[in-house]
This record gives sequence, structure tokens and C-alpha cells, in this order.
Amino acid sequence: MKNCELIVAPKADDSWILRLDRNGEEFCRVELSRKRMRIGRSRMTIGGVAGLYTPPDRRMEGHARGLMEASHDFLQRQGCSVALLNAIPDFYQRFGYGVVFPVYRLFVKTDRLLKTCRPLHVRRARKKDEPALVRRYNQCNRYRSGTLVRPADWRFNNLVNYGRPPGSLLLVEDKRQRVAGYALCRTRSDRYFVQELNGHTSAAFESLANAIGTRARRAGFERVHFKLPIDHPFGEFCKRFGSEWEIQHHVDAEGMGRILDLPRFLSALRPELAYRLGKSEWSENACLWFITELDAAGLKIAGNAVRCIRKRKTGSRDIALPQTALLQLALGYRTVSDVANEKDVRIPGLARPLLEVLFPPSPAMMPMVVE
Ligand SMILES: CC(C)(COP(=O)(O)OP(=O)(O)OC[C@H]1O[C@@H](n2cnc3c(N)ncnc32)[C@H](O)[C@@H]1OP(=O)(O)O)[C@@H](O)C(=O)NCCC(=O)NCCS
Repeated sequence: MKNCELIVAPKADDSWILRLDRNGEEFCRVELSRKRMRIGRSRMTIGGVAGLYTPPDRRMEGHARGLMEASHDFLQRQGCSVALLNAIPDFYQRFGYGVVFPVYRLFVKTDRLLKTCRPLHVRRARKKDEPALVRRYNQCNRYRSGTLVRPADWRFNNLVNYGRPPGSLLLVEDKRQRVAGYALCRTRSDRYFVQELNGHTSAAFESLANAIGTRARRAGFERVHFKLPIDHPFGEFCKRFGSEWEIQHHVDAEGMGRILDLPRFLSALRPELAYRLGKSEWSENACLWFITELDAAGLKIAGNAVRCIRKRKTGSRDIALPQTALLQLALGYRTVSDVANEKDVRIPGLARPLLEVLFPPSPAMMPMVVE
């Protein structure tokens, strides 16, 4: 980092390459993006970090550390509350990241998928279908934590062409030729892989299952791997065929994240927290004061109303915990009682029932931060 210049090059809308450069020589680079991610009914601006790279002859000189620190400052200035990345093992914890998403895999045998019929028409998606596909994606995921909000002009093309060989985007139409669902499929060396699937009726799921089974058989694979969270309705639908789930909880690897701006993070969570309070029996007014290694900020709860506070109020319930533990709670990755057992966490008994209402466990999957 010493004597290096930081160069910020915009790549596309809301994405940038940051480089450390000395006299035209690149010492380190990283790709950053800004996205909107859902946590239930809340929407949060997040920063995606990908492709961190130091050339071999410049490694172990502190360049990646310097660039990661500069990236966090940059993303915070871009309004991001949280940073997320798909991590190589045992590296990013030193930059404040913790594992915040499990890896879910659903497997279904190809011959079982072929026991379905195809009540609706399935075809390859065309360019003109893209706006309707984006609408279907956002509609199916409107309250799903860990999904990105895709703007109306977002295009599936990037996702289809991300990785080799390119994927195929299958579309299922209802009787009135509207998009009822879709699946993004690709052949991998060892499996047939469905990277994304959404649909809003069981006829759409059945038609997609049949079309996917047909393609997997043609490609010579005995089973299909679906990338879906464990509570996804297609997973429920597949129970009838016999299905198998694999869930991995990694140590310092895969879906990792950290908070960048605590008050902004708490503030963005408010709609979902208010919704959870509204569904619960909770009626007491209370203030929670979160003390993390980054910063301290609080939540004032009055009925279903939630406010973020910057100054501690007398009578607040003080909760001391690492920022990663708070992010794990917010994403439903860990339970309050599990977090409370950590040695660097202090949760007063009086605060626990309220925290359990605000932060129930829930399945969420790491979004594609470079999509
Ligand atoms: C990983 C990589 C970016 C590290 O770059 P670097 O400039 O050598 O890293 P730094 O010198 O800033 O090291 C920062 C810290 O990470 C540690 N570290 C460096 N490379 C590491 C690695 N591959 N695994 C684990 N720890 C590593 C260093 O010991 C140092 O620790 P410390 O600050 O606690 O003493 C570089 O090895 C690389 O480009 N690898 C190939 C691409 C890659 O895997 N990128 C990650 C994509 S998710």
C-alpha cells in the first residue's frame, strides 16, 4: 500500500474496479458493486466485494489489506450499510467478516423429475421476455431475505453468460402467455445445475421440473442440483419426488459479510422489525442499545413503531456483541440463544425475549453480488 495510488475506475452502473497502482504497475485490484438487498420487508444498500487479486510477486506486502480498508471506506461513502462477499477459506475474518449465509443444495433424481407432465408450455427465454422475467423474479422474492432487488432494466443476460458454458434460461408460460416461471440451467462437469428458479403456481413448477429433467437426461446426468434456500416453494414441491438437501455451515469461508455503518444498518432494518413486532404479542416500550467494536447505536420500540437512536437513553438495555454477530442475527443465520453463549457477547436476560421477536432464525441465501 505504501507509496501506491488508489485508482477508482467505474465499470458500469453502481460497480467499480479499485486498484492500487505505482508508476503504472498494478499492485492489487478488487471489484465492488452497490446493490439493494431484502431482509424480509426491509431493503438495505449493500456493497459486493469480488475478485480481490494481488500479483504473485507482490503478495504478503499488505496490499490486499490496504485495498480492503479503502474498499470499506469507499462503499460506506456510497451509502452501503453492509459488505458481502463469497470468500476463499480463512482469509476475510481478518477484515471483520463473519459467515452470514449457509450453502443450500437441493438434489432430485432426473428420472423422478421425468415422472411429471408438462401442463404449461416451456421454451427458451427471448430478449423481449426480460422485463416480464424481472417482474416475476421480484414478485416471487418480494419478502425473501438475501435476495437482490433487480431494477426494471436489469437483464438476465449477464447471469446467463456468467461462467462457461453459458446457461440456458427456460421460461414457462401460462395459458395467456404470461411468464409463470423460469429456470436458469447449466451443465457442469459433474452435474446438471439449476442456478435460479422461480414460479408462482404448481403447474409452473411441474412444467419446469419436466423440462429440466428432459435436459438433464439428454446431457447424461442422473441427478439435478438446484441452488435454492431450504424454505423455497419449489423445494416443497419436490418432496413428492423424493429429494435430498445438503446444508453447509462454513468456518470463515463462502457467504461472509460485515456491517460497515451501524446506525444506517439499524435504520434500514426498521420496516421488517416493525412487521415482526406487529405479528408478535409484544406490547412493551423499550430501548435496545447495541455496542459493537465499530460503533454504538440503538433501537427505540414503542408499540409496533421502531426508531433508530444515536444517543443512549436512560434505562436502555445494553447489548454488547461483535458486529458480525448482529448481522448474523438480522439475517436469521444464528439464534439469539446461540449468540448469547459466545464469550464476547453480553445480552441481559431482560433483553432476550424482545431480541427473539426481532431476530427469529430464517433461511437466507448469499446473493450473487457481482450479477
Ligand atoms: C488472497 C490475496 C488477495 C492476498 O493478497 P496479499 O496482498 O498478499 O495480502 P496481504 O499482504 O495484504 O495480507 C493480508 C493478510 O492476509 C494474510 N494472507 C495473505 N494471503 C493469504 C492467503 N492466501 N490465505 C490466508 N491468509 C493470507 C497475510 O498473512 C496477512 O495477514 P495479517 O495482516 O493478519 O498479518 C492474494 O494471495 C491473491 O491474489 N490470491 C489469488 C486470488 C484470490 O484467491 N483472491 C481472493 C478471492 S475471494
